[in-house]
Amino acid sequence: MEFIKIEDAFNKEGEKVAIRGWVYRKRGSNQRKFLIIRDSTDIIQCLVEKNQVDNQTWEAAEKITIESSCEITGTVKKDERAPTGYEITVETLKIVGLAEPFPITKDVSPEFLYDMRHLWLRSRRLTAIMKIRSEVFAAIDDYYRSHKFYEVAPPILTPTSCEGRLTLFEVKYYNKKMYLTQTWQLYAEVMIHSLEKIYCNSPAFRAEKSKTSRHLSEFYMSEMEAAWEGLDDIIKHGEELVSFIVQRVVERRSKELKILGQDVEKLRRIKPPFPRITYTEALEILKKDGLEVEWGKDLRTIEEDQLMKHFDKPLIVTNYPSKVKAFYMPDDPKNPGTVLCYDMLAPEGYGEIIGGSQRSNDIEEIKRKLKRDGETINKYQWYLDSRRYGAVPHAGFGLGVERVVSWICHLDNIKDAIPFPRTIKRAYP
Ligand code: 4AD
Ligand code: MG
Repeated sequence: MEFIKIEDAFNKEGEKVAIRGWVYRKRGSNQRKFLIIRDSTDIIQCLVEKNQVDNQTWEAAEKITIESSCEITGTVKKDERAPTGYEITVETLKIVGLAEPFPITKDVSPEFLYDMRHLWLRSRRLTAIMKIRSEVFAAIDDYYRSHKFYEVAPPILTPTSCEGRLTLFEVKYYNKKMYLTQTWQLYAEVMIHSLEKIYCNSPAFRAEKSKTSRHLSEFYMSEMEAAWEGLDDIIKHGEELVSFIVQRVVERRSKELKILGQDVEKLRRIKPPFPRITYTEALEILKKDGLEVEWGKDLRTIEEDQLMKHFDKPLIVTNYPSKVKAFYMPDDPKNPGTVLCYDMLAPEGYGEIIGGSQRSNDIEEIKRKLKRDGETINKYQWYLDSRRYGAVPHAGFGLGVERVVSWICHLDNIKDAIPFPRTIKRAYP
């Protein structure tokens, strides 16, 4: 018999089927055993009755342990009491891989679950999150490809920093020093002169020194860069991309959102336009709330969270002070002291999900800001060549994939948005 997936067994009422998977739960007596079996698609209850099966199958049912893999044949029937509404009356059960006593039990600590991540990834919760994560990547690809962007794979080893030296991971590269990439941006900016509109889904690395529920040391950033575009264009891409991702997950992964207890209706309302304010206006809102921020200081987590109490859609904040932003951002001639940039902040305290800007084409401005940041200008000559040979207006942004997954899934910690999290405290398994 051909094996079918559990979710397809739900459409085979009254029919004989063959499934395979892992034992998710087991209970019963010396006459009958209830096995909940899971595969990548769902779970289903299977009933083995001693007086209905041959000896081999009954012995297997007695012996089988939690997380053992197995193959089952039997007949599907509706049963309101079963966890997913159906039950298989088992005819044959064959153990494929007998599991040792599973180390993950009900009352283990969160840290233990991170130590056992390789096994905990089998949980229903993490499986649901990983499916949503996969859907997020698929939506990103669909969005960019339907807007005629080319996908580009950037290098992971880089000779310079782009987002400040403080968070660089150093790598021994033969007898030289290199760094793990913080962003594809410098490479993207030189490639738009041939491909014009490009994107990537790439790992990015930041040696984040503080322990927070929003920062990973290794995360995935989805970045875009486009020739002939400015700040307004990339704000529009950001709004459309984020709502496209959310609506796609709602449409295709509502079952998983429900497993996570997420409110699907709330997500349905995430549609453009998103509210838009400047950094200076953000400070005014915060001041009314009794949280005074000195103009020129970056917004910290508590300030972003307070600000987002006023909004239930992602918020676009433009025109941050020049001195808190990266060297490639151009001064805004209309708003002195600020740059043509934006951050998109997610609702409910999930923080910054997008950071982006128009790019400066003024070599002197770029050099001045590189110097301000303590960088060696000579190492950036290749990058500055993009300004010397046919420069065009261009802009781009990066979207933090795990931040978006955390928000959509309503996670307590960003570590659950990636299979094997790396933070200052966690690099195993
Ligand atoms: O704002 P960031 O630092 O922007 C850049 O790197 C630009 N070069 C992107 C570009 O214009 N192409 O990072 C972009 C996004 C942030 O908004 C945040 O969502 C995410 O990346 N991010 C992190 N996510 C998880 N852990 C970290 N340590 C992160 N640092 C940034
Ligand atoms: Mg940022």
